[in-house]
Amino acid sequence: MIKFDFNTYVDSFLDKEKYNKLMSKKEEVITKFNNSNMIGWTKRIDEFLIQDINSTAKYIKDNFDCLLVIGIGGSFLGSYSFDRIFRKYFNDDKFKIIYAGTTLSSKYLDELLNYLNNKNFCVNVISKSGTTMETTITYKLIKDLLKRKYSDEEIKKHIIITTDKEKGPLRQEVEENSYKSFVIPNDIGGRYSFITPAHLLPLAINYNINEIIDGYYHGKRLIDNAYNYAVVRKLLFDSTREVENFCVSEQNFSYFTEWLKQLFGETEGKQRVGILPTSCVHTRDLHSLGQFIQDGNKIVFETYIKVKRVNEYIEYNGRNLHELNNLVEDSVMRAHFKGDVPCIDITIEELTPYNISSLIYFFQLSAAFSGYLFGVEPFNQPGVEIYKNEIKETLKG
Ligand code: PA5
Repeated sequence: MIKFDFNTYVDSFLDKEKYNKLMSKKEEVITKFNNSNMIGWTKRIDEFLIQDINSTAKYIKDNFDCLLVIGIGGSFLGSYSFDRIFRKYFNDDKFKIIYAGTTLSSKYLDELLNYLNNKNFCVNVISKSGTTMETTITYKLIKDLLKRKYSDEEIKKHIIITTDKEKGPLRQEVEENSYKSFVIPNDIGGRYSFITPAHLLPLAINYNINEIIDGYYHGKRLIDNAYNYAVVRKLLFDSTREVENFCVSEQNFSYFTEWLKQLFGETEGKQRVGILPTSCVHTRDLHSLGQFIQDGNKIVFETYIKVKRVNEYIEYNGRNLHELNNLVEDSVMRAHFKGDVPCIDITIEELTPYNISSLIYFFQLSAAFSGYLFGVEPFNQPGVEIYKNEIKETLKG
């Protein structure tokens, strides 16, 4: 279960009349949303596809030391941020998955190639377009490494491609070499692709994806909360709160906030509007950005993502340390509210893959609604395309 509080530390910042007006637009916004041809992520995933994902995950676990996932943006953040939440900080016992393709750092790639040189690894390259520079460069380096180690026939066993059904160089490669492949459907954009093989395959290695899928679709029931959240954010933006600070109090959630930044940043940030998403990990960042939030320029509102119960129990002075951590978060929210900062509170009852998956659907839905409230197309990312093209031109020369 997930609880939403859009009132306690927010109400006093909202103009009731404007709030009611935007709330009354709900049916109109939902109709626009339902008419979009980019909401494939709301449809039920095919059972045969789930079986294929599970058997491929089993094949990877049974035959290799580790999986290398190559992808960036929407082809990376979903599974990576989810996986990070449930990994142990120390002595992690899950199957090893390495993520690459998010950097052109020679240091990182040199070390990666050296590390993989003696490993028996499988690579899953994920790119809807098949032309993204970081993914292409990393994949080429990895293929060269595979070629140094194996015959063409053997290489086939090591490569899995997740890309468009028909278009792009990766699909062409699949056809030419009979590589194992998965499809990112046409009606699902990168940042909304959590419920596709782009993320479900890497997740199926260490998680029961049926639980993840069930939790995801459970998120559909949160439609009223998703619309309410979109309205509150829009009104805060209109009252000059142009920055949303996502706050978490567990280090493992730090990539989940990166996923949120991409989701909201790419969905709303166009035509010179949109809320700038940023994030803090508490209590660490209370000793840095905390000063600005409490006392500085009042351009910020905050969204707290808290977990009520966790499995680990540590006692501190006769008290449950996790409960204490949550009390600290409550105090911070109160202090920031007193410092003239609106704070939205989202609390997950229990830390489970099911609940995180519901939360993902909730945020996707809310971001899409928000796009319509801002008057922009939620499912494109023209800004990203412009910089991608600029890089392509530069590299041609
Ligand atoms: O959300 C998006 O569409 C983008 O962030 C893309 O996912 C990202 O640019 C990667 O694109 P591709 O999957 O084509 O490599």
